[in-house]
Amino acid sequence: MKPAIRNICIGVAACAFAAGSASSARAQERTQIKKVQTARCSAGATTRLVRYKVERGEALPAAIPKALTRKPGDEAKGLEAAADPGKGNCLACHSIAKILAKADKSDPQSVRTYGNHGEVGPPLNGVGGRYSQGELRMIIVDPKLAFPDADTVMPAYHARNGLTDVIAGCRNRVMLRAQTVEDIVAFLEALK
Ligand code: HEC
Repeated sequence: MKPAIRNICIGVAACAFAAGSASSARAQERTQIKKVQTARCSAGATTRLVRYKVERGEALPAAIPKALTRKPGDEAKGLEAAADPGKGNCLACHSIAKILAKADKSDPQSVRTYGNHGEVGPPLNGVGGRYSQGELRMIIVDPKLAFPDADTVMPAYHARNGLTDVIAGCRNRVMLRAQTVEDIVAFLEALK
């Protein structure tokens, strides 16, 4: 939340008022951020971790060839989960042309959902042709095992051990439930 008054000093009294209000606004901001983080975590997060077996991959040192769930992943749901800031939030770091194509420029909400792509990580176009399904699953579940030498900033979406910088409300939770992981894998596989 933006504070109502900040850095406006017209005479000493107004200045003091602005300072007081700015610091309480900052406290409010902090509470707000915490709320959003906790809500974000619990929206997509679950305490239920599905067990999986890590094997060697071809292009990567690790892969999870076996699906985490019996129900096959749904590509369309995977796209939505990848774009959703409360779920995958993949667009914060990756650009994906297939999602960008869904941004309707005449609709600000659609542009907010599909149109803003970061570049912390590589673009994901064609990723389904570069990795096997099991490698894609490994990258989402625990990228630290997929890219052991990279000290990667990509979050582990379905792992609980060996994590760093986990915000308090999200400890002992996994970021995405197993079915959402499978949906995202299906979406990535189709990016050829
Ligand atoms: C905080 C940033 C960040 C977020 C969020 C993130 N990633 Fe990544 N991702 C990376 C980085 C950085 C790499 C490159 C690996 C490395 O060297 O660290 C990467 C690599 C990948 C790769 C391998 C790409 C290639 O060509 O080698 C895939 C696939 C991938 N991410 C998918 C996803 C998906 C799907 C999501 C959302 C569920 C996601 N990432 C969320 C940062 C992120």
